[in-house]
Amino acid sequence: MQKITIAIDGFSSTGKSTVAKQLAKALGYVYVDSGAMYRAVTLYSMQNDYINDDHFHIQKLIDDLKNIKISFKFNDELGFAEVYLNGKNVEKDIRTLEVSNFVSPVAETSEVRKMLVKQQQQMGKDKGVVMDGRDIGTIVFPDAELKIFMNASAETRAKRRYHELLDRGEDVQYDDVLHNVVLRDGIDSNREDSPLRKAKDAIEFDNSDLTVEEQFNTLYGLAKRAIVEHSK
Ligand code: DC
Repeated sequence: MQKITIAIDGFSSTGKSTVAKQLAKALGYVYVDSGAMYRAVTLYSMQNDYINDDHFHIQKLIDDLKNIKISFKFNDELGFAEVYLNGKNVEKDIRTLEVSNFVSPVAETSEVRKMLVKQQQQMGKDKGVVMDGRDIGTIVFPDAELKIFMNASAETRAKRRYHELLDRGEDVQYDDVLHNVVLRDGIDSNREDSPLRKAKDAIEFDNSDLTVEEQFNTLYGLAKRAIVEHSK
């Protein structure tokens, strides 16, 4: 069977990464969380005070981009690749609400996008990859054999993210999480460079009323069919 590229895009907290990881495992493909790369650049910007509540020194970040090295290393125990920033595992540090609050302006920066898209395309050049994000089916892999566009109501998504953050021990309020989800939806959809859009040939998938298992079964079926189609 030929390997294909699977692009999963959608609004924040739609469960993209959950199903992308499951699909990659079931198919023996590599999973790449492109959002983790934008989050890692954001963490770097926070650590270097390029961004905080009252400023975003965009040019300083752009001038420093060459010093940001992002990589992934597979963790056998977790069953997926964790993200590293300049050699340090930052998988946990990038998932905080604080990083979520600063990631949108960083992800809007064209120079940042250019650098990360190039790296993402390199990681997927041999196919056999499941990548999730906002622009995977439109910009990173416009020729992907299977494109999924995930959606769910803002409240459903905020509830999921809220419980995730609580499980991780973060002290957060549901209203703040909902506010962040709605705000990021708006910024991701309206930014000038690579806004969140459903690719014309993407399959729209609303999982508000589906269990994780039902969602996986449906998407695994679509992936199998796409692989067979592509191997003919
Ligand atoms: O998937 P996530 O919530 O971890 O992504 C974090 C942010 O990164 C999200 O608010 C938008 C941005 N992002 C992007 O602009 N393009 C991508 N391909 C992936 C994420």
